[in-house]
Amino acid sequence: MSKLLLAYFSATGTTKKVAEALADGFKAQEVSSIDFTNLSSRTEGDILIDKDTTVVFAGPVYAGRIQADAIEQLKRIKGNGNAICVCVYGNREFDDALIELYDTATDNGFNVIANGAFIGEHSFTHITDFDTAKDKPNSEDLLIAKNFGKDIAQKIIDGNLSKVEPKGNRPYRDGMPELSVSPDTLDTCIKCGKCIEVCPVGAVDINFQCDPDLCILCGACGKVCPVDAKVCTLESFIKKSEILSELEIHLPELFI
Ligand SMILES: Cc1cc2nc3c(=O)[nH]c(=O)nc-3n(C[C@H](O)[C@H](O)[C@H](O)COP(=O)(O)O)c2cc1C
Repeated sequence: MSKLLLAYFSATGTTKKVAEALADGFKAQEVSSIDFTNLSSRTEGDILIDKDTTVVFAGPVYAGRIQADAIEQLKRIKGNGNAICVCVYGNREFDDALIELYDTATDNGFNVIANGAFIGEHSFTHITDFDTAKDKPNSEDLLIAKNFGKDIAQKIIDGNLSKVEPKGNRPYRDGMPELSVSPDTLDTCIKCGKCIEVCPVGAVDINFQCDPDLCILCGACGKVCPVDAKVCTLESFIKKSEILSELEIHLPELFI
């Protein structure tokens, strides 16, 4: 296989892990990546990709759609080669997120030859006491992603470049509503500043407090905090996290 480009946004790293496992199986001669997670990486203008590069469009699911900053950035990637779409969701549902990625890649000129929906530890696990899909993607999921990459590479070698559409509805469901909610910072905070560094939307101020109007609840601050000082205390949010934690764990869904 010639070249593979991984293009993704991944606040708590689950999307990144799945994309990299897929790349591992695909075995391209050259693998590159564009990580849109950091605020400074999110700019404007088209990113043009040559026909020999297969592009992986990957993003996390927020409210049944691809996270808004992620999709905005992925829309910049234009080309006429093959593409693979991957969404990672927190074990509720991926709803219309994968078809949104498929449409984005297709509208940008790509031929989408495979799509996959994988399960990742729910972002809310890092900012509440409830764990959903803890430690996912695990080694089994990553093996599935790796074999998926291998099968896609074989599909290309076989000269089978047929377009494959994933499940999902059009028009898409409404995405994230404006919530104005963010984690609180507990008094146990040791002021290490890691939360400021990782926040993908610049919502943590110099006093380590989160701005609820900027916060996207991605969980990155909670995941990196060495003393678990980032906690969401809103009653309805805690209840939702509890309900999510009780769901039966799903399996990845592949469309190839
Ligand atoms: C605001 C918000 C909304 C989310 N909505 C969904 C959802 O609709 N369905 C779902 O299964 N998971 C949902 N999740 C969980 C993420 O999709 C999941 O944790 C994913 O693995 C995060 O990817 P990342 O590690 O690359 O950031 C949501 C997470 C956040 C922060």
